[in-house]
Amino acid sequence: MCGPLKYRRQYSARVSLKVVAGSASRALGKALASALRADTVDVAFEKHPGGFPDDERYIRLEGDVADEDILLVQSTHPDEKIVELMLLQDALADERARHVSLVIPYFGYGRQDKKFSAGEPISARALARRIQVGADDVYTVSAHEPGILRFFDIPARDVSGIPAIARHLKGSAIDVVLAPDANARRFAQELADSLGAKWDYLEKKRIDSFTVEVEPKSVRVQGLRVAIVDDVISTGTSIATAARMVREQGASHVVAACVHGLFVGESMKRLSGCDEVVATDTVESLATRVSVAPEVAASLRRPTG
Ligand code: R5P
Repeated sequence: MCGPLKYRRQYSARVSLKVVAGSASRALGKALASALRADTVDVAFEKHPGGFPDDERYIRLEGDVADEDILLVQSTHPDEKIVELMLLQDALADERARHVSLVIPYFGYGRQDKKFSAGEPISARALARRIQVGADDVYTVSAHEPGILRFFDIPARDVSGIPAIARHLKGSAIDVVLAPDANARRFAQELADSLGAKWDYLEKKRIDSFTVEVEPKSVRVQGLRVAIVDDVISTGTSIATAARMVREQGASHVVAACVHGLFVGESMKRLSGCDEVVATDTVESLATRVSVAPEVAASLRRPTG
């Protein structure tokens, strides 16, 4: 593994690629295997069969990976999935996989991509440095900041999850796409362009994890169908607050959309004022409506050496 990589062309008609999916990304792993017409390698996930009663992870590859090109798919949320990823990488190296392309559908810790206060880690960098050890190249999906790719010393690419959301919303006659804050502008713009809708963004001030203030905007939503889009829905506070505001301003239909649906705690209740909640399969949840597999599959490049 490792060493400088040269790339030839996309994987479309590949022969020997095998997909290994971690337990955070089983559905997406299957969808990718089907999009790439690749085989999957089964993985057993259990508590340690020896019976260690301390909740340590245990994995076992149940297929042959020697000399194979592997597409390893695993989101790094929640934290235990990071440990599982490291175990999968170790097993793949030990079983002599030829090349490991790592797809991280949801790259957790991406929001701590810099120090906000002295003494803090750059968590995204810490994670990138460690997980790149067991990969030859890496693909993220709608990373919170594409700048996190610089933390990898291996070839790294970010694939947008927005086209998947656009596919889902195509028939929904959305008039306006809104970003709940300035950081999410690029997501709103991309979605609006795909849907042929107008777009704008709101000014958000976060007071704490469960409280945000959203500045009323002059964007006209009276009688219109609105989609509010962000990369991540965590507590749902950002989008729920924005949704309340556009409802008060007369929006006739409000969709809450995100690439990565973490939906922690009471988030779904918070979002109950929305007509629809849509997320992709980068994180598997009850709101997963569409897969990013076509976009990820189309972005993969095949190593030559
Ligand atoms: C923050 O910068 C992210 O883009 C999201 O806006 C945030 O994670 C959403 O969190 P919540 O759903 O808890 O408001």
